[in-house]
Amino acid sequence: MSTSSKSKTSDQDMSRWQAFVHRCQTCKACPLAVSRKHVVVWRGGINAPLMILGEGPGAEEDRLGKPFVGRSGQLLDLLLSIFEFTEDDYHIANIVKCRPPGNRVPTPEEAAYCQPLLSEQLRLVRPKVYLLMGATAYRYFTGEDNAISRVRGRWIVSNNCYILPTFHPAYILRDPRKKTLMWQDFAMLREKMEELLLMPPLYRGTSS
Ligand code: URA
Repeated sequence: MSTSSKSKTSDQDMSRWQAFVHRCQTCKACPLAVSRKHVVVWRGGINAPLMILGEGPGAEEDRLGKPFVGRSGQLLDLLLSIFEFTEDDYHIANIVKCRPPGNRVPTPEEAAYCQPLLSEQLRLVRPKVYLLMGATAYRYFTGEDNAISRVRGRWIVSNNCYILPTFHPAYILRDPRKKTLMWQDFAMLREKMEELLLMPPLYRGTSS
C-alpha cells in the first residue's frame, strides 16, 4: 500500500498517460527504432512517488516490452520486495526506451533523442524520489560524469526532489562483494520514503 496523496489515477491522468505511451511506441527518432522488438516504457505505478531509472532495455526487456525483467530485474525485484515496496510505490524506466544492439551502452546521441520522452514521463509521473541505478542513469540524469562508486549512497537534493545514485544490479551480479553497499542504499531509500510519508514504516523488529 502506498500512503502517497497522489496514488489515485484520474481519468485525465490515464488518458494523458495512454497518449504518452502511444507517442513512445510510434517513436522513430533514432536508429534504435529499426532493430527494436518493443519500445520499453515502464513498469509499476503511473503516479508512483519513486522513479527508478536504469540504462536501457536488454534482450529480455526488448522481447517482453517491460524494463528490468531479466537477471538484473530479478535482483532489483528481490531488493524491492525485501524492503516492502509495492508496484504502486515505484515506476521503473530507462534512459533509453529501445534496446541498443548487443546490450552496449547507449550513445550520447541516442540518449539525447530519447530525452524528451523521458522528460515527459517525469512530468506525468511527478515522482518525489529518484533512484539512479548505474553510471549511465547517473550521467544522463544529472549531467555529471563522476564515478558511480564515488557518488552512490549520498542524497542529492534538487528542485525539492531527492535523488539517490546507486550501483546497477548488473554490476552487483558481476561483483557480488558490492551487494552490501547496494543493500545499504536501498535501506536509505526506504527510510527516505518513510520520512517523506510516502510509505508506511517498515517493521524493523524489536531491540530487546
Ligand atoms: N538493464 C537496464 O539498465 N535496464 C533494463 O531495463 C534492463 C537491464
